[in-house]
Amino acid sequence: MKAEPGSSAPPKVLVAYVSYSGNTRETAEIIAGVLAEKGMEVALLDVSEVGIPSEDEAPSDPQDVREFKGNSGTRGTGVPLEGYDVYVFGALTWGDGELPEEMRVFLRGLLPLLERRFEEGRAGTSAVFGTGDSIFPRFCWAVDIIFHHLTKRGIPTFPEKLKIEQSPYGLGQVAKVKAWAERFAEWMQGSTTVEDAAQEASTSKFVVK
Ligand SMILES: Cc1cc2nc3c(=O)[nH]c(=O)nc-3n(C[C@H](O)[C@H](O)[C@H](O)COP(=O)(O)O)c2cc1C
Repeated sequence: MKAEPGSSAPPKVLVAYVSYSGNTRETAEIIAGVLAEKGMEVALLDVSEVGIPSEDEAPSDPQDVREFKGNSGTRGTGVPLEGYDVYVFGALTWGDGELPEEMRVFLRGLLPLLERRFEEGRAGTSAVFGTGDSIFPRFCWAVDIIFHHLTKRGIPTFPEKLKIEQSPYGLGQVAKVKAWAERFAEWMQGSTTVEDAAQEASTSKFVVK
């Protein structure tokens, strides 16, 4: 766990996801439930509610991501994205193995912030999950894409990625989701394996856009 030394406050967790038809949201809710049961303070965020800024609104300063609010992408009081110890990202895979635009824009704003915190020694930890359909050749590639972006920036990331076939309530996958969340919680307590993750990222085939 990368909480502040000497801090006894429960870790604050943001579970940020994108979901078009509900499968990834359901998975996010199960994960959030497990982490909350462990005493963590968990917030769920549908990143499509944060809104996608138009090109001319796109922030030159990544801090501005805090100010995006609502589907129109208008600025407002904002969704507070800083101040979490743990970030869990979830996405469906779209198109031909693609990361949905909403999550791509969200990460483009947030990851520089997390990277800076890591450089300042205030890093949190992260993890990635997603749902897909194995009928597609690029099954759950969005998970790999997010993982690649996190580890490339040196953000401590749980090496075990979670990939779920459609709804977690199908195929008896709820137990799989819960077990993953349990292992992630355990991993947080121990040392992070940034090196492992970074090594995996260095062999990744994904190109950063
Ligand atoms: C147009 C379209 C393209 C898709 N492409 C992929 C894909 O490349 N890889 C994959 O694993 N799943 C793919 N899927 C399946 C979805 O990722 C899967 O149904 C997912 O669980 C939907 O999540 P959601 O309910 O959270 O929106 C695709 C689905 C649609 C409708």
